[in-house]
Amino acid sequence: MTGRGRTRREVLGLAGGAAALLAGGCGGTRERTGELVRSAGPLPEPFTTPLPVPRVLEPLRRTADADVHEVVQRVVRVGIVPGRSTEVFGYGGTFPGPTIVSERGRATLVTHVNELPVPTVAHLHGGHTPADSDGFPTDLLLPAGAAAPPAGAGHGGAHHEDPQHGGPRRASTAGDLAAGRREHTYPMQQRAATLWYHDHRMDFTGPAVHRGLFGLHLVRDEEEARLGLPSGAREVPLLIADRSFAEDGSFRYPALDPTMLATPGVQPEFSEGVLGDVVLVNGAAWPVLDVDAARYRFRVLNASNARRYDLRLSPPPPSGPRFVQVGSDGGLLARPVELGSVRLAPGERFDVVVDFARYPVGTEVDLVNGLGDGGSAQVLRFRVVRRARDDSTVPARLSEVEVLAESAAVRTREFRFSRGGPGQPHWVLGGRPYDPARVDADPVLGQVERWRLRSDVHHPVHVHLDPFQVVRRGSRRRGPWDGGWKDTVDVRPGEVVEVLVRFTDHAGRFVLHCHNLEHEDMMMMANFQTRA
Ligand code: C2O
Ligand code: CU
Ligand code: CU
Repeated sequence: MTGRGRTRREVLGLAGGAAALLAGGCGGTRERTGELVRSAGPLPEPFTTPLPVPRVLEPLRRTADADVHEVVQRVVRVGIVPGRSTEVFGYGGTFPGPTIVSERGRATLVTHVNELPVPTVAHLHGGHTPADSDGFPTDLLLPAGAAAPPAGAGHGGAHHEDPQHGGPRRASTAGDLAAGRREHTYPMQQRAATLWYHDHRMDFTGPAVHRGLFGLHLVRDEEEARLGLPSGAREVPLLIADRSFAEDGSFRYPALDPTMLATPGVQPEFSEGVLGDVVLVNGAAWPVLDVDAARYRFRVLNASNARRYDLRLSPPPPSGPRFVQVGSDGGLLARPVELGSVRLAPGERFDVVVDFARYPVGTEVDLVNGLGDGGSAQVLRFRVVRRARDDSTVPARLSEVEVLAESAAVRTREFRFSRGGPGQPHWVLGGRPYDPARVDADPVLGQVERWRLRSDVHHPVHVHLDPFQVVRRGSRRRGPWDGGWKDTVDVRPGEVVEVLVRFTDHAGRFVLHCHNLEHEDMMMMANFQTRA
């Protein structure tokens, strides 16, 4: 929505008071589910900070068939806004966490070490992972030295009364507790894909991810390597997350309990979701990236708690496609798909190629968000700085992608994502608040099922263990952003999205939930138990 003609001054002006006016109190727009938290302190000048790229984590050691990693979760201070530091929870002491790179077929073992003041749960989003390593919400990793979960904390132990969640909560299922460290085994028997890891603690995922607990995890394989897609410095992750800042430089998150130890949830006016007015890419506010006039591959992740984006290039290239999508959540598409914009809800990933050779050297190309206003309409600036040689290609055939047949579905299940009724928590799934002890679905491994995902407002629905294929949105075929294997799909207001799921290999208990993290924490989650 930032027109190509708008000057920088106008853009910046809008990021101030006008933005607040525009954004304030209009949680009712159908494109946005959430309420804006306003920044109070000084903000950086847009497009002055060079885009940081998270470091790639070196394994502690490599065995014959596995890479062994350790990630220490700790409190660190980072510089995001001028003259202030921001306290974050950092995987590996950085924000975002380091990028883990796996090779298909070679196991990755990650030991998480918790040096934070709160319990955590590490989940690999998109991972085809055995249940005991997946990061079930009650499989708490307690801080080193802690003997038991803090009194009253979520479902780790004690009962507690909580009006927002509808009375006493069942604590029948203390999960698998560990203190100090926990090893996760990722077999990596899965296609090359853009995965990410993030906190998943029962009731407290929103504040934990907001505080910094997320990072990228790439799976590579030979099929992908053979394609000749842009690589090296021209393969760039873009981890997008909105935040707001307090006067002292800290992140503003409207938690009921800022210690994140006892009472879950956010102040009631933010129950729809927490939106920020500053867009961070790889941890920097509105950064800038100098690019060659050549093709780039961007691994775009929406790591925001609740914000959806419609990413556009401004100005668009004078000719040719804006974005060429080569992959989705679950890896490569069969063929590249041209997209005018990249629309992504929390949790979704798009693997896209942009060809900057179509712009004259010297052009500034902004990545803007058509669903934002003020600060949230700006994302990143590319400066096309030099002509350069480009040996990359985007082949017309990318991958052999199995297409699940609707006729193969052995049964249909419906999952309804809606507001809770009287006496219920704010958000429920199938009319019921999440109960870690209940089995809500029991699919058989290897069988195709049709899942109908029904919504009231926007809910990005995420399923663990295996990706799915979208077949239908309402009465229409699937939409332009639904291609390939997905593990998160944006279900729009009043819509039914039909997907085909097929779980394989790992019998056990997994979750599906809304990936608007405030909805998830306020009980919009369910369990499925896969069986042989
Ligand atoms: Cu990205 Cu169940 O999470
Ligand atoms: Cu996940
Ligand atoms: Cu939701």
